[in-house]
Amino acid sequence: MTQQIRIPDRFILGAAASAWQTEGWSGKKEGQDSYLDVWYKQNRHVWHNGYGPAVATDFYHRYQEDIGYMKDIGLTHYRTSINWSRFLIDYEEGIVDETYAAYMESMIDELLSQGIKPMICLEHYEVPAYLLEKYDGWSSRDVVNLFVLYAQRALERFGEKVDLWFTFNEPIVPQTRIYLDAIRYPYEQNTKKWMQWNYHKSLATAKVVALFRSLPINKRDNSRIGIILNPEVTYPRSSAPHDKQAAEIYDLFYNRVFLDPSIRGTYPEELVRLLKKHNIMFEAADADLAVIKEHTVDIVGLNLYYPHRVKAPAYQWHTDTPFHPAFYYDKFDLPGRKMNPYRGWEIYPSIIYDMGMRMKEEYGNMPWFVAESGMGVENEQRFRGGDGRIEDDYRIAFIREHLAETLRVTQEGSNCLGYMLWAFTDNVSPMNAFKNRYGLVEIDLEKDRNRRLKKSAYWYQQVIQSKLLNI
Ligand code: BG6
Repeated sequence: MTQQIRIPDRFILGAAASAWQTEGWSGKKEGQDSYLDVWYKQNRHVWHNGYGPAVATDFYHRYQEDIGYMKDIGLTHYRTSINWSRFLIDYEEGIVDETYAAYMESMIDELLSQGIKPMICLEHYEVPAYLLEKYDGWSSRDVVNLFVLYAQRALERFGEKVDLWFTFNEPIVPQTRIYLDAIRYPYEQNTKKWMQWNYHKSLATAKVVALFRSLPINKRDNSRIGIILNPEVTYPRSSAPHDKQAAEIYDLFYNRVFLDPSIRGTYPEELVRLLKKHNIMFEAADADLAVIKEHTVDIVGLNLYYPHRVKAPAYQWHTDTPFHPAFYYDKFDLPGRKMNPYRGWEIYPSIIYDMGMRMKEEYGNMPWFVAESGMGVENEQRFRGGDGRIEDDYRIAFIREHLAETLRVTQEGSNCLGYMLWAFTDNVSPMNAFKNRYGLVEIDLEKDRNRRLKKSAYWYQQVIQSKLLNI
């Protein structure tokens, strides 16, 4: 029997994207590459049939058209980022690229004029390649100050218009790919650097929070500064102590390493003990730790895609092996799990409920929202119906189940503000360009990147308009 869930008034129902995954390189100047631009330039094989970030979705030229669709669907909010590597022409002097700033401003104005609230993130994997080369990226304390300078320029430009700001999207991810997985330039396995980057990004967040609070924007009732994290909601194989310990340590290294300093202003003692034990403790000045303690965020966005299942490791690592957190856990696939057959990720909507209850019980009922939830599908053109429209009933089922869990945890008192879908349109993935499609709106690569609403867009429109979810 169908059940109806009423969606609270003022609940965010939006969609997300990022600058570099949508804008394309049009108008980009020499020296304005992000580290991912360089990676894409060096690795032609990750482009999808020749399509990649060079044009992306061409949002840079077509934002008015896309915002028109957002308005039609009824999105309350749209999240994207400013591309740090393009917004400045001199990262050390903080000189703004006026052409890019004018585009950003016009895009924000267009959202506002259509009644859609912008959420702006300062870094969604757009660290300038120049800073990676000259300073070894976030290994350097100098980059913390350069990020604050960039944030200041962005807040000066757009702070009057935008209420909701975020320092980073998934701040752990670039250094995990670079220094833990060693699959991106400079392909170096180095766990100590990984932790130093983690720490410097938390420090940068606290410093930007401090800056934000010193500006007039902070006086507006609705203005907020936050961070967008990707907690890997972790389940142990069993309740046996060794499996539970594996899950707890996994949670420390991948989740609490950002959740705790961002929300509580401190690092978990057990994490610090492990970092010292394995000689990978980050270097931190007492004065900086005091800044982290004092300037915690107002709001947290959580990107929640699939569960992570761990068990105690089968083998003891040799003590002379360079340390990796996987020393303490093995991952495993749950037998009989429900899978997304088109992307290879487990589907387990309870991650939203379980994480929402953690926010309530462990993190002081911090205001939070689902900042990304979505379903990637390879070769989605195969699901085109007779009229040419993509019939993505699998995505409708996915959103329905994940939105239902978001509403359930909200009803149970978690301070959840809303749900945002990844993504508004199909866009470029960090790993494989356009191979996996996530959008409510199709980008037809073969036909001039023409836009066409998928079936899920009409379904989402109906949910937003009726404020009712049928499950
Ligand atoms: C999120 C990121 O982790 O996952 C996005 O914030 C990304 O930038 C999305 O595109 C989907 O992952 P993927 O690898 O399938 O594109």
